[in-house]
Amino acid sequence: MEKYIDIISAQLKSAFEKLGYDPQKITASVSNRPDLCEYQCNGALALAKAAGKAPLTIAEEVAEELKDNPWFSSVDVVRPGFININVSGPALAGYVKEMAAADKFGYPEAETKKKIIIDYGGANVAKPLHIGHLRSAIIGESLKRICRFAGHEAVGDVHLGDWGLQMGQIIAELQERSPELPYFDTDFQGEYPSDPPFTISELEEIYPCASGKCKTDPVFAEKAHQATLDLQSGRAGYLAIWNHVLNVSIADLKKNYDALDVHFELWKKESDAQPYIPAMLEDMKEQGILKKSEGALIVDIAEDSDKKELPPCIVVKSDGATLYSTTDLATLVERRMLFDPDHVIYVVDKRQELHFIQVFRTARKAHIVKDDTELTFLGFGTMNGKDGQPYKTRSGGVMRLETLISEINEAVLQRMQENREFDPAEAEKTAGIIGLAALKYGDLSNQATKDYIFDISRFTSFEGNTGPYILYTIVRIKSILSKSGEVHADALCFTGEESEKQILIMLSRFSEVVENAYLELAPHKICSYIYDLANAFNVFYHEVRILAEEDPVKKNSYLSLLQLTGRILEQCISLLGFAAPDRM
Ligand code: ARG
Repeated sequence: MEKYIDIISAQLKSAFEKLGYDPQKITASVSNRPDLCEYQCNGALALAKAAGKAPLTIAEEVAEELKDNPWFSSVDVVRPGFININVSGPALAGYVKEMAAADKFGYPEAETKKKIIIDYGGANVAKPLHIGHLRSAIIGESLKRICRFAGHEAVGDVHLGDWGLQMGQIIAELQERSPELPYFDTDFQGEYPSDPPFTISELEEIYPCASGKCKTDPVFAEKAHQATLDLQSGRAGYLAIWNHVLNVSIADLKKNYDALDVHFELWKKESDAQPYIPAMLEDMKEQGILKKSEGALIVDIAEDSDKKELPPCIVVKSDGATLYSTTDLATLVERRMLFDPDHVIYVVDKRQELHFIQVFRTARKAHIVKDDTELTFLGFGTMNGKDGQPYKTRSGGVMRLETLISEINEAVLQRMQENREFDPAEAEKTAGIIGLAALKYGDLSNQATKDYIFDISRFTSFEGNTGPYILYTIVRIKSILSKSGEVHADALCFTGEESEKQILIMLSRFSEVVENAYLELAPHKICSYIYDLANAFNVFYHEVRILAEEDPVKKNSYLSLLQLTGRILEQCISLLGFAAPDRM
C-alpha cells in the first residue's frame, strides 16, 4: 500500500501543481503543534520568492483548491503562510481498514531485496557473557528483524572472539594445573580425549585467574603469549584444547542468547577467517597498498577531508603476528565468497570506531569489498549505573548477564504481586516475559549511540515509557477482546470520537515509522511510536465505553480498532525482540 503520509503529500503536490507552482519539494509532515492541527505543509513559504508572491496568498490559493478534497476535513492558513491540515476521519478509517486486511499491514514491498549480514553479539569464548555484550545482542537482533520485515534477506553472525590472547592464557594456566594432560606432551601420538578437561564453571574460573596472573607475573605472561603463537601456528595439542574451549563455551553462550530471545544464523568465529589471510595479504601486496613501517605492514588510510589525523591500519605486526584488523578484513573476504552481501552492519561498542574506520577504508582500498557494498558501523554507547559509571555488581565487579536478568525478573515479580495474586509457576513465567521486555525496551528506547542509565526500578515500572507499560496495554486489549465475542475487522469506520481519531492517525503511520527505523537503523523510532500508540489507546479506553456501547455499528468498529491496535503493537514488539504474555 502507498504510505498514508505519501497520499496526503500527493494531494498537496497536485494542488500546488494545478495552480502552476513547482510541486517537487512539497510535502506534508506530522504537525509539530498537535493542538492546532494534525498535519502541516510549509511549501508556500519555500515557493514565495520564486513565484514573486506573498506566501500567505499562495497558501490561501492552495487551501481553496483543497476545500473539497475527500482526504481532508479542514485546510487552514496561518500567517505568514503555513497550511494547517486536519484529515478526514472517514477517509482515514478507510485507509486503516485496508491496512488491517493487507499483508504486513500494507508495508510497501522493497524495490530490491538486499542481502544483509549483521555482525552482532561478538562474545568472546571462555569469558562469561557479561553486560558489555548485552547491547550488541539486543540492538543487533532488533535490526535483523526490522531488515527482514522491510523485505530483505538478513543473516546474523555472532562472530565469536576465539583467536586472541585469552586462548593462550587458558592453555598456559591449564598446563600449570595439570601438566600431565596429553595436550602438553609434544610426543603424544594417540587421539586426544573427547571429553573436555574442564566444565564451564571451571573454565570461567580459569580464565580470570590466568588473565590476572598475566598482569602480575611476566614469566607467566610470556608463556601465555607463546602458547597463543603456538596455537595459531597449529600445534595439535593446543588446537585440541581450543576445540574443547569452543564446545564448552558455545553451548553455554547458546543457552544465554536463547534466554534473551537472540538467535544467530551463523556461529562464525575469528578463527574461521584465518585461512583467508595469506592470499589476502598477497593480493594487497600486488596492488601495492602495503607499506613497511618499522618492520610492520601497514595500509595508509588517511584522506584529505579528515578533520584529525587517522593512524594507518596495521595488518601484520613486526613479529609477523596478525591482528584484530587483519581478522576483520579476512572476514570480509570470507563473507564475500560465501554470501556476497550488499550490506554489512557491525553492531559494536562505539569505542571501536577507529578500528572500523581503518578496516572499512582498507577494505575499499584493497577492493576486498565491491564498490557498491555498503559497510556500516553502528557504534553503541555504554550502559551505565545511576552513578554514571559502567554498570557493575553491588561489589563492584563486572555484572554477569544471568545475574542481571534475575535481578530484573525479581523486580518485576514484586510489582506483579503488588497488583494481584499469582499462581507461583505462572508468576515466574510471566515475570520472565515482562523482565525481558523491560530489559530490551529500556535499552532500545534510547538512541543506540548514546550512553544510558540502566535503572531497574524505572525499566520495570508498569507506567511511563517502559516495556511493561506497552505489554500492559496489549494485555488490556487482549482481555477486552476475550470478553467481546467475534470481531469483524471490516466493521472499522469513523464514529466521530476525537480519541478514536488519534488512534487511527497513529495506526496509519505504521509503515512510515518502520521504514524510517530500517533506513536509519534506529529501533528507538519504533519504541517511541508504540509509546505514542499505547498512550492514544489508553486515552480512548478511559474516555469511551467499549463493551457497554449499545450501538452495534460503533461497538463493532471499536472492537476492530482494538484488534488492529493490538496486532500492530505485537508486530512492533516482535521487531524489537520481545513478546507479550496473555495476562499480567
Ligand atoms: N569480540 C569483540 C569484542 O569483544 C567484538 C567483535 C565485533 N565484531 C567484529 N567483527 N569485530 O570486542
